[in-house]
Amino acid sequence: MLAAMTKEYPLSQELREKIDRILDAHERDYTQIVNILMEVQDLNEKHYVPEPVAYYLAKKLEIPVARIFDCITFYGQLSEKPRAKYPIQVCNSPSCRVNAVNTVQMLEILEDLLDIKLGETTYDGRFTIETTSCYGACDRAPAVRINGKVYDHLDSREKIEALLRSLQ
Ligand code: FES
Repeated sequence: MLAAMTKEYPLSQELREKIDRILDAHERDYTQIVNILMEVQDLNEKHYVPEPVAYYLAKKLEIPVARIFDCITFYGQLSEKPRAKYPIQVCNSPSCRVNAVNTVQMLEILEDLLDIKLGETTYDGRFTIETTSCYGACDRAPAVRINGKVYDHLDSREKIEALLRSLQ
């Protein structure tokens, strides 16, 4: 592990500087790891934390890289694999199941419009549909979260179509 922590990783100078700025903004406090990872993930247009970046963060925060990967695995908004430009997250927590009819209909319309199933990515890499736990929009369902932003009251095909069109 120690050898891996000291290994040189092929991150560009520009990327290292951007990551360092995020770390500095959080005072290099590892208890802020979730927020740090969210911001670092947003540096990448495929919205994920590549392995070399995870090692770089572990080195800078002086923590085992396993903690970084544990965190990425635990939090639905984080990913260690490349994602679509717009990962469409649909809540699958119990409270939203009260609104199940609307949420299921919204999911069916999304699948139809994008011509993909839950868990798949569109051919152009722009959209993925995935499920996640509660993101605090329980009273505004049916809703989706895309790159941290919630889009609510998606209760008609027209609204869902308009949302997809707005994401360029
Ligand atoms: S339970 Fe679905 S957003 Fe809260």
